[in-house]
Amino acid sequence: MGLQIDPAFVQAAEHRPKSTISDAGSIPLIDLSPLLHHHIPSDPSDPSDPAIANEISNLIAQIGEACRDWGFFQVVNHGVEVELLEKVEAVTKEFFALPAEEKRKVKRGEVNPMGYYDAEHTKNVRDWKEVFDFSVTEWETKLLRLENQWPENLPEMRAICEEYYKGVEKLGYKLLELIALSLNLSAKRLSHFYENSNSYVRLNHYGPCQSPDLVLGVGRHKDCGGLTILFQDEVGGLDIKRKTDGEWVRVKPIHNSFIINLGDIIQVWSNDKYESVEHRVSVNSKKDRYSIPFFFNPSSSTNVKPLEELVSEDNQPKYHEYNWGDFYKARKDSNFQKLEKENVQIYHFKRV
Ligand code: OGA
Ligand code: NI
Repeated sequence: MGLQIDPAFVQAAEHRPKSTISDAGSIPLIDLSPLLHHHIPSDPSDPSDPAIANEISNLIAQIGEACRDWGFFQVVNHGVEVELLEKVEAVTKEFFALPAEEKRKVKRGEVNPMGYYDAEHTKNVRDWKEVFDFSVTEWETKLLRLENQWPENLPEMRAICEEYYKGVEKLGYKLLELIALSLNLSAKRLSHFYENSNSYVRLNHYGPCQSPDLVLGVGRHKDCGGLTILFQDEVGGLDIKRKTDGEWVRVKPIHNSFIINLGDIIQVWSNDKYESVEHRVSVNSKKDRYSIPFFFNPSSSTNVKPLEELVSEDNQPKYHEYNWGDFYKARKDSNFQKLEKENVQIYHFKRV
């Protein structure tokens, strides 16, 4: 036996990453190249709009199926420049390679959740990772102050990160429109919740671990926001709980692609037609892994509830309304420390 691992990281036996099905029957792969040639129509039922006729309607159907059956899909030809991906990956590696005291200078606090952090807990077990969170806007409510913190010793980091944010945000809006159309909503139905959005980018570094069978890079969880757009490097480690049989499936890295997953808010908006799916990150004993999720979230003033168009006499709303800003604050607090109880979840708002 080598050194004992800190028990704060050790997962309960039933949550340890034993079985994953590598690459088998993995998530749908969707080619977004039709978006490079066509605009997204505002009204799918308008027969005079030629964009809807062919490639775009096919794309909407693929997105709808992936959202319904998987809650996850991978996209290629997404319009974000490969050079930009390379730059943000390189600066991510440089940031985490900074001396610990430099990273500590940009550490997040209890009121400001932006910056560096190496002690996040998911479901009250410590994650084997370090992260850096940033956004392009800064705002303040009674309880939270989002204030970006950039390391002095890496002056180019801010501009690269901000450019990256804007690139993936553009993709985010396109995906929101396609998802809205797949739910038979008007294209911009979801987008208007995103003015003054509470979105942010996270840089993740998962270091090698001597006991990859006992810990997780991120414990099993569902993303609580709107939509997540994830860039991962070639190492691999993201596992998804497949809806059809509950098996953990490893997502195979595809160069220059993004992994998209639906968060809890889309589940509530769609009144459970689409679901946010559980996932986790396994680590390994040899390689560092880097990933970069963009959490595309509505404005913190948004009150989330099933959309009127998607409920009816026979399909009553399944959730009570909740405020996204309050939910986000409660989550941030619970991730900051180990608690004895479960943190806030959307099923707490479920109507019985
Ligand atoms: C997350 C997450 C996956 C990954 O940060 O919510 O699920 O591959 N990350 O890093
Ligand atoms: Ni996640």
